[in-house]
Amino acid sequence: MSNYHIKHLEEYYQVYRKSVREPENFWEEVAEEHFMWQKKWDNVLSWDFNKPEVKWFEGAELNITENCIDRHLATRGEKTAILFEPNDPKEPAEHITYKQLHERVNKFANVLKSQGITKGDRVCIYLPMIPELAISILACARIGAIHSVVFAGFSATALSTRINDSDCKMVVTSDGSYRGAKTIDLKGIVDEALESCPGVKTVLVAKRIHSDIQMKAGRDKWLQPLLDEASNACEIEVMKAEDPLFILYTSGSTGKPKGMVHTTAGYMVYTAYTFKNVFQYRENDVYWCTADIGWITGHSYIVYGPLANGATTLMFEGVPSYPDFGRFWDIVEKHKVNQFYTAPTAIRALAKQGTEVIEKHDLSSIKVLGSVGEPINEEAWHWYNDNIGKKKSPIVDTWWQTETGGIMITPIPFVTPTKPTYATLPFIGIQPALMDEEGNELKANQVDGRLCIKFPWPAMARTIWGNHQRYKDTYFSAYENKYFTGDGALRDEVGYYRITGRVDDVIIVSGHNLGTAPIEDAVNEHPAVAESAIVGFPHDVKGNALYGYVILKDVGESRDQDNLRKEINQIITEHIGPIAKLDKIQFTSGLPKTRSGKIMRRILRKIACKDTSNLGDTSTLLNPEVVKDIMDNVL
Ligand code: WTA
Repeated sequence: MSNYHIKHLEEYYQVYRKSVREPENFWEEVAEEHFMWQKKWDNVLSWDFNKPEVKWFEGAELNITENCIDRHLATRGEKTAILFEPNDPKEPAEHITYKQLHERVNKFANVLKSQGITKGDRVCIYLPMIPELAISILACARIGAIHSVVFAGFSATALSTRINDSDCKMVVTSDGSYRGAKTIDLKGIVDEALESCPGVKTVLVAKRIHSDIQMKAGRDKWLQPLLDEASNACEIEVMKAEDPLFILYTSGSTGKPKGMVHTTAGYMVYTAYTFKNVFQYRENDVYWCTADIGWITGHSYIVYGPLANGATTLMFEGVPSYPDFGRFWDIVEKHKVNQFYTAPTAIRALAKQGTEVIEKHDLSSIKVLGSVGEPINEEAWHWYNDNIGKKKSPIVDTWWQTETGGIMITPIPFVTPTKPTYATLPFIGIQPALMDEEGNELKANQVDGRLCIKFPWPAMARTIWGNHQRYKDTYFSAYENKYFTGDGALRDEVGYYRITGRVDDVIIVSGHNLGTAPIEDAVNEHPAVAESAIVGFPHDVKGNALYGYVILKDVGESRDQDNLRKEINQIITEHIGPIAKLDKIQFTSGLPKTRSGKIMRRILRKIACKDTSNLGDTSTLLNPEVVKDIMDNVL
């Protein structure tokens, strides 16, 4: 019997030890007992981090939607699978049962087929948080098409880059989206993006805001009439264990976004197993993750992980501040939410509103609280624990990444004693290592270093779409035979981990990963800009905000600086999206550079953080005089 559901600390240690000593036996038992296979595997694991190549459950055949939907029909057909809470609290919530989900996914899958989509084709999904988003993902998975969801806050340029990178044939979108009191013209953004995406043959358009939009003849099709005609029966496509399930883009420190490729069997097993344990999900619980499905958190812990466990997963269309800052608590009370999973940036924004609004709501249904996406600071942790968890619901501070597919370091609630700001212990099967700058593993406790993982786990991304070399260079080249996360971490005296943040040029703003290079590229597009450098600085709600140092081409020319700042942010909004806007823009005559011409971001970061006590030796710079100038004019 595998220990699918861990219930006490002794058991955690016992199972953890087994998962490390006999990883193949351990994962084989989990896979064997809790999932449906068309055919079992020949080999549990083969791996080589030098190549790099990782294969789990090779030889197995399955379909993830059979595991997420069909197998629940006999016992949970009438149970709510997806609980949809609309943007407008006056609009009724929608309870989609497993039986209804089955029919809707089948219909959608048949529509995809009727539009020429077959196994292995890439389908870009650019939708707001409405049921069609989850359904279209599952419909792709049912027929073996590879979904590439692009967060609907990205701009047309960002969207077209992602569509072209993976040669998507189709885009699924809506006539628009609601976001609090605003509506957004999603279809207009798609139209603009598709001007430079010749490979897209079909656009399926869901109706959400009933706006009057342009439909391009031959290309654009309303979704509903096609669904109405489609059969509600659709056989699964039998997939191999290592067939790609989806692509999801994430920012790197340099270059264009990386299309992380996740495959079928390992991803399913790991997201399901982590979901069950990290949230201690019980049969009649209502689970709510506030993330957008456009990010990995939504893929793994709104859609696949919960549905693989036959859970009820809540999908919220709106924002925490609409119609007021009580909305989250309103939803918790209304749907009696048992597990609530959100990001530190949301916690900090809500904490600013005080506790009066919370006291008006009954939050007694909450059993477990989760945090994800960035380090949770001590103040936010206590606020969450005191006011939302009422000091009795454990907080699971879950560390993981788009690349890891599932939660990696986390407490197990009611099992692992929590400690503020600590993600605590590795999850079952995860073997972390902290490395020093010379590449040695720090084996003792009470050390800090760069966080690596020494052994494969089932949900790890297998490659970067179209660029395996970049996958190798980014994750497997820094330390021999180890996956490098890009994060720094410390390990305390009892072996608990605390993630300290990125050690590369990725900046996490409101829980969103942003690479500095594409933002600098956007800024440099402004005709008046000669060069720019972007760094992060601490922000009390967003965690980090962006600080731009900008050199103008013609310093003699006097220009309205505030206007320039607006124009620069406008360009960023067009190229990436509003999430990447700069909070501060300092115009400067130069940037500190090494003699080889590399910008010294470390210095710029310290200045932006107003931490200039220890700038180090600046005399070896090409242009040391510029440092004082920048410091004198810091914003
Ligand atoms: C950061 C989100 C501290 C980290 C699931 C990681 C965290 C990056 C935590 C991945 C946490 C995520 N504590 N930092 N609990 N969770 N991070 O790909 O820097 O959007 O490398 O995946 O977020 O972000 P991504």
